[in-house]
Amino acid sequence: MLEFDSATKRFGPLTALDACTFTARPGRLTGFVGPNGAGKTTAMRAVFGLVELDSGSVLWKGAPIGPEVRARFGYMPEERGLYPRMRVRDQLVHLGRLCGGTTATVVRSVDGWLDRLGLADRAQDRLDTLSHGNQQRVQLIAALVDAPDLLVLDEPLAGLDPLAIAAMSDLLEELAAGGATVLFSSHQLDLVEDICEDVVIIHAGRVVRAGDLADLRARATQRFVRVRYLGAAPDWSGLRSVEVTEETDGEALLRVDQDVDLGALIDAVRRRADLVSFVYQPPTLSELFRSAVAA
Ligand SMILES: Nc1ncnc2c1ncn2[C@@H]1O[C@H](COP(=O)(O)OP(=O)(O)OP(=O)(O)O)[C@@H](O)[C@H]1O
Ligand SMILES: [Mg+2]
Repeated sequence: MLEFDSATKRFGPLTALDACTFTARPGRLTGFVGPNGAGKTTAMRAVFGLVELDSGSVLWKGAPIGPEVRARFGYMPEERGLYPRMRVRDQLVHLGRLCGGTTATVVRSVDGWLDRLGLADRAQDRLDTLSHGNQQRVQLIAALVDAPDLLVLDEPLAGLDPLAIAAMSDLLEELAAGGATVLFSSHQLDLVEDICEDVVIIHAGRVVRAGDLADLRARATQRFVRVRYLGAAPDWSGLRSVEVTEETDGEALLRVDQDVDLGALIDAVRRRADLVSFVYQPPTLSELFRSAVAA
């Protein structure tokens, strides 16, 4: 288990991490979300000793993280730190050797991942001749070569095409299912909601929500109704204790009170729209995020 315990980091007058406390558990995917500048990258860098905390700590299995333990972690940094002019396979093998693997095991691991991520035919190319998304895959392999117990990935999905995002998500789920602790940051909240069991929402250096996503959703006081209808957007005026939070083609999301009379609401919606579906639900991660960050 990775544990942030009141981790605090100041840059001059700015408090980038403010008593930041949360855990990432083995066998689970933990999504780390928050607005730009919230402190995600700073927190992740602290795991690797790249940021020195002013107070508090980051622990792995209950103990401070030393260089030997850290060498068993996989990290995909925000500033992708590979050698642009070195050949893909050569540098992955080089990095794997630095982590302490024997050449034979590292080569086997690198070739396996290149194959799995569809890069076998680019193995002999210079990194800087690959597209952004493919460079990202190479960066991911660099984090995976050593079969780490802890994976910390800073926006691994940014800039990937939809197929690559799906492949990357499957892979992250698989790694967690295999017992690894996986912490990754992302701004793609719908995707985080789909694949993560746990989430951490950070805002201005403070953790504002953390834990099992299903629990967080269930415990939230707000409730929503997702309505699908045929034809043009209805006139929602006159609905009491209901706020329309999103409206797209043929679909609206209504924020309602927890004790809303659903029967009366369905009737009221029916009077306004040619109703296709009506689903009562807890807040999505996007809504949890919005209300946590607005508070
Ligand atoms: N080396 C540094 N010197 C000064 N300020 C810094 C430094 N690193 C980060 N900060 C500041 O700390 C705050 C947190 O930054 P951080 O990069 O951790 O945010 P983030 O959550 O990763 O944001 P994003 O979603 O944009 O990647 C920001 O206000 C940033 O400007
Ligand atoms: Mg960042």
